[in-house]
Amino acid sequence: MTTLTLRAANPASTRADAVVIAVGRADQRLVAMAPGDSVAKAFGRSFHPVLSKLGFSGKLGELASLSGAGAVQAPLVVVVGVGDPQQVSAETLRSAAGAGIRAVHDAATAVLALPAGDDEELRAVCEGVLLGGYAFTAYKSAADQDPVGAVMVVTDIAREKAAKAALANAEQVCAAVNRARDWVNTPARDLTPQRFADEVTALDTPSRVKVSVWDENRLLDERCGGILGVGQGSVNPPRLVKVTYTPRRPVASLALVGKGITYDSGGLTLKTTAGLMTMKCDMAGAAAVVNATYAIAALGLPVQISCYAALAENMPSGSATRPGDVLRIRNGTTVEVHNTDAEGRLVLADALVLAREEQPDMIVDVATLTGACVVGLGTRTSGVLSNDDGLRDAIPATARLAGESMWPLPIAEEMKAKVRSSAVADIRQHNPEPYGGALFAAAFLREFVDEARWAHLDIAGPAFNDGEPYGYTPKGGTGAGVRTLVRFAQSLAEQADGASG
Ligand code: BES
Ligand code: MN
Ligand code: ZN
Repeated sequence: MTTLTLRAANPASTRADAVVIAVGRADQRLVAMAPGDSVAKAFGRSFHPVLSKLGFSGKLGELASLSGAGAVQAPLVVVVGVGDPQQVSAETLRSAAGAGIRAVHDAATAVLALPAGDDEELRAVCEGVLLGGYAFTAYKSAADQDPVGAVMVVTDIAREKAAKAALANAEQVCAAVNRARDWVNTPARDLTPQRFADEVTALDTPSRVKVSVWDENRLLDERCGGILGVGQGSVNPPRLVKVTYTPRRPVASLALVGKGITYDSGGLTLKTTAGLMTMKCDMAGAAAVVNATYAIAALGLPVQISCYAALAENMPSGSATRPGDVLRIRNGTTVEVHNTDAEGRLVLADALVLAREEQPDMIVDVATLTGACVVGLGTRTSGVLSNDDGLRDAIPATARLAGESMWPLPIAEEMKAKVRSSAVADIRQHNPEPYGGALFAAAFLREFVDEARWAHLDIAGPAFNDGEPYGYTPKGGTGAGVRTLVRFAQSLAEQADGASG
């Protein structure tokens, strides 16, 4: 665990194993940014030529390491590129802090001297440290690197109330993101639907939070034929976890629904070897909504949350759902199954119906739903699809503030007829043609929310980083969606505040 403290100090003369500073590039010249400029000054005129010799040009995300001996207190100086100093955004700082903290992983103590002049910048730097310092070591016999123990973040506003609030907010949100990452990274052998439910019930519940778990018998009583149909091929039976947060004076109500396929083999429509490899990540939507709910509650935001995690393991076996089977969703709608690998929409259907029954102001679901979304938007951008134009634009805007990349996609008009084109049931589960898979899936989900304002976040790309770490994003589970959901609840609270005040 990395602990963070705020200090108004000179980074050149602060004792620590390492100091991290930001250097940008303007008019072909390197520019050391305050408060790290005092470290550059301590090196004197050699600083910029040495960096150039090391091939450092100040580009965003670039790293260089120098010995601090004789110049500054810390024996190691890590320089992080931030690009054009005029263009440094909160997200630049977040990713510079993440890259910087990963570069000093051997240090027990580090001083982080990145620009953090106001509380928004400071919050981004703190988030970068807490997210970039994450490591999943639960299955390592010996940890090959310990995370940095103590990080001092240098900022002029260290003693201000707003600074302390920014740190506290970053700690709550990043704890939620990192816990979502842990759950995603846990192998599916260990994180079964029941174990996922156990993880939730084992959390310290903030006040005004309640958790309930439905087992397979209850799911049957409650007519959740989608969740049961997907889970029936596995020896690990499905679950539905509901978390509610009821603040004293709610100004808005939000239902969150998450896809929680603890392992997606594809079922009888079995995936390929490569396709199977990362599918422990298929519960990332459920991990995101549950952990966001806990962060929203811990922050005491005045937004009522009803959160549903639809948990099942999608396996092939003699008891598995077959292509051609018809399932009945909780609201009575019958669905013809064509491809058992399009399972996410089936578990979400029951959960969306449940969410709708409570008449929240809006419903947001989060799911690693389609490979088609990854084809369209790449691995780092989530798709946002909605039956409400305002919501479809508001969520990507909120995501940008939170430092997540999300982009609107349409639910094209023709999808409705395709969804409703089953010969034997009310609707069909799977697109008859190989185009617009993310759009068809959203049109399918829309069948279960009636007139409610609803948005669907397809996080199939960003939920799991199959490549190398970058910025504050580790390999494996990323916690995608959590920061956006918390910010979104925050924005609902602020809007209501503005309307009444
Ligand atoms: N869980 C997958 C989607 C996915 C793909 C998530 C890649 C993360 C990375 C989903 O259940 C799935 O298999 N979708 C199918 C749908 C198709 C059969 C209509 C897909 O995208 O191929
Ligand atoms: Mn699937
Ligand atoms: Zn899936």
